[in-house]
Amino acid sequence: MPLIKIPPPGPKSKKIIEMDQKYLCNSTKVSPIVAEIGKKCILIDIDGNEYLDFTSGISVANIGYQHPRLKAAIKKQLDKLIHFAPQDFYNETQVKLAKILCEISPGTFDKKVFFSNSGTESVEAALKLARAQRNCLHVIAFIGAFHGRTMGSLALTASKPIHRREFLPLLSNVTHVPYGNCYHCKFESPSECGFYCADYIEDVIFRTFLPPDKVAAIITEPIQGEGGMVVPPEGFHENIRKICDEHQVPLVMDEVQAGLGRTGKMFAIEHWNVVPDIITIAKSLGSGVPIGATIFNSKYNFDESGMHSNTFGGNPLACAAAFETIKILQEEKLVENSAKMGKFFMKRLKEFENDYEPIGQVRGKGLMMGIEFVKDKKLKTPDLELPKKIMSAALKKGLILLPAGVSVIRIMPPLNIDEELATEGLNILDEVLKESC
Ligand SMILES: Cc1ncc(COP(=O)(O)O)c(C=O)c1O
Repeated sequence: MPLIKIPPPGPKSKKIIEMDQKYLCNSTKVSPIVAEIGKKCILIDIDGNEYLDFTSGISVANIGYQHPRLKAAIKKQLDKLIHFAPQDFYNETQVKLAKILCEISPGTFDKKVFFSNSGTESVEAALKLARAQRNCLHVIAFIGAFHGRTMGSLALTASKPIHRREFLPLLSNVTHVPYGNCYHCKFESPSECGFYCADYIEDVIFRTFLPPDKVAAIITEPIQGEGGMVVPPEGFHENIRKICDEHQVPLVMDEVQAGLGRTGKMFAIEHWNVVPDIITIAKSLGSGVPIGATIFNSKYNFDESGMHSNTFGGNPLACAAAFETIKILQEEKLVENSAKMGKFFMKRLKEFENDYEPIGQVRGKGLMMGIEFVKDKKLKTPDLELPKKIMSAALKKGLILLPAGVSVIRIMPPLNIDEELATEGLNILDEVLKESC
């Protein structure tokens, strides 16, 4: 249970924060926690405060912190080999991980895997695969998307102007189209729209300025994370898939945040009746040991060695951590727990939506949830300040939260959270909402 002994940041934390500000770039962190120890869903800071974590380190700690099986698997690999040019020499852990990823990911066709070290790199690989296969440049991405911050993936990212402002021009030939965001539908009357947001690609983009045979890929997230935990309606992804099929355009599904059990399915796109051609994962794959993977239909392979590679991707240590993470998710039924606990959370969050005027909408699937704050429920004007106030007040009571989108708080606890801890965190949130709204 959370336990705040000294208001954060305590004296030891303050020292580290000062050093951080002196020596690190990106020193404006979202909250003043200097975490030292993790235990399942709890983080302990260097001043001894104990917090309940509703972020999983942005969907990384899906199996919780310091899982004993994960530690044992990493230690076992440490005693054998950390690294030996995994893209140039063969290695058993890498092959075993690739095999299990091909087996558990959607699609019965032959697949292959490219390993990297992060989400953005897994997206870069997907982009290069699609471009090489289609021998053309153009990519369609979605407004509100987040796909990373390297120069290729940044061109696809469209969730906040700050991400791009100082870095223009980016990769050219990317067209952004509206996402299936019914709460903020750009096409009015969502109930009668027949997914116009998806059809817009065919009706407007392809008919007026972009020949579909020049499109290398359509890339999307199954649920937009950074963009505000936006869950598209049933039928949205199916329509996109249909458009891709009609024009033989590969569909890239970015599961970096939503993947590996987070939404109550191993892959979030399994909530829709859709099989992507290329899937990107990272974040929770190594439970904190950096690893990214691009899983793809074998027909999109890089044909010649040297077309794409890296130094660390597929290194034995990260692969051992990732393989064990998947085994833990499967054997401890954490995906099922995510679905079950998601319903538990959602019931209470819906009560909050009714009770508190500034909550415009709560939404999510499994343990990937968001609360959107508005100044006016009818106009849906975002309340930019309230989420910050709530997150700061929650922290003082021992609950860690993170923002998303314009005015959303994300709720993403580790997948092994139980009802007791969930209730504890939700009670803190309720108290804070009562005080702040
Ligand atoms: C959907 C999605 N794709 C890609 C990325 C980029 O991942 P990374 O920060 O590991 O580069 C993120 C990060 O939040 C993400 O949420």
